[in-house]
Amino acid sequence: MADETLTSPRTGAHPAAATAAPSAGNSLTLTDLRKTYMTRGRPTFEAVKGIDMQIEPGELVALLGPSGCGKTTTLRMIAGLETVTGGDIRIGDRSIRDLPPGKRDVGVGFESYALYPPLNIRENLAYGLKARKVPDADARVDALAQRLEMTELLKLRPAGLSSGQKQRVALARALIRNPKVLVLDEPLSHLDASARQRVRRELKVLQREFGYTTIVVTHDQLEALSLADRLAVMDQGIIQQFGTPDEVFDDPANQFVADFVGEPKINLVEGVVERSGSGTTVRIGDGSVLQSRATTATPGATVMVGIRPQDCRAAEADAPGLHGEALVVEDLQEFTLVTLAVPGLPAPVVAQLPSGSPVGPGDRIGFSAAADRVYLFDQKDGTRIR
Ligand SMILES: Nc1ncnc2c1ncn2[C@@H]1O[C@H](COP(=O)(O)OP(=O)(O)OP(=O)(O)O)[C@@H](O)[C@H]1O
Ligand SMILES: [Mg+2]
Repeated sequence: MADETLTSPRTGAHPAAATAAPSAGNSLTLTDLRKTYMTRGRPTFEAVKGIDMQIEPGELVALLGPSGCGKTTTLRMIAGLETVTGGDIRIGDRSIRDLPPGKRDVGVGFESYALYPPLNIRENLAYGLKARKVPDADARVDALAQRLEMTELLKLRPAGLSSGQKQRVALARALIRNPKVLVLDEPLSHLDASARQRVRRELKVLQREFGYTTIVVTHDQLEALSLADRLAVMDQGIIQQFGTPDEVFDDPANQFVADFVGEPKINLVEGVVERSGSGTTVRIGDGSVLQSRATTATPGATVMVGIRPQDCRAAEADAPGLHGEALVVEDLQEFTLVTLAVPGLPAPVVAQLPSGSPVGPGDRIGFSAAADRVYLFDQKDGTRIR
């Protein structure tokens, strides 16, 4: 069982504190996890198509992906709220896939997760603790409510809560039992910007203190970066890449990942491979060329070329680069975004330059990026050409 108190190993002296620190027993392993939804006995939709992930004890993973890619389905299977079609889920070396939700040691933070309407929030949060005769249930509720900035909500009934308040209650409910594993589905999306930042920090502190092995679904890239040890990028029921934020940004596995992760978005343009070998030269539009570190491109092939706005550097007029006319120059204080029309390209590209760069609308300019930051992708299936 998980530690039953909210006393942290760092700041408190609870006798069971040693078990609250990340221990080998808290790893979460998904093996070829699959889900096909059924309607009237017939398979209707394959939402999760074989996920393999090994999440280390105490690690926080952010699960990112477009709407409908299978994120909630994955979390619901881990929580035991959805049956599993194939594969296994283990905490430590114990399979939990056939256990009822209450026996899994998984804290669940879903906004829609039911609260008992007749009970106020304090009673809702304390209910499970009291049923299991946990001492100091009320003190634990108070301590957690204070940390999640929701003390004033304790005396309210669920029906009276705003969506942001419901989210804080859902988070408290996930945390109150001190589980080994925590799964949170967009836990902060309805909070306003400043509350969101504070609660996010507090969540991170609690997660670290108690060593919860955690998966957080978020649509917010900044949130993913600020919280996560590793990112799992999902599309169409498959984990496309699982790695540290740096690995995912610097070395995207495919075009989908490159396109999905990063703000402002990566520029993706068509190009034709001119020369290959120890490096690759790609012709783009009417006369621009870029050099890539890739060594396996086929001369003459049309490929997709990716350059992140953040990697763009000014290029001399006669040097390799994307050359064209600046259409829009946006000085955003921290940096300047330049939108550039490149002859022969159907859409403009965007470069992020240092703030105060001497560029104005109508200027003829060029950008390039270091050869290892010019990514090539197969035009048909988006796989990375390395
Ligand atoms: N009970 C169900 N029966 C049939 N199909 C379902 C069911 N629940 C979800 N789906 C489908 O499975 C796919 C994955 O849904 P899921 O809720 O896991 O996506 P998600 O990644 O959480 O998306 P979002 O970001 O919008 O929350 C979707 O296409 C959805 O329509
Ligand atoms: Mg969802």
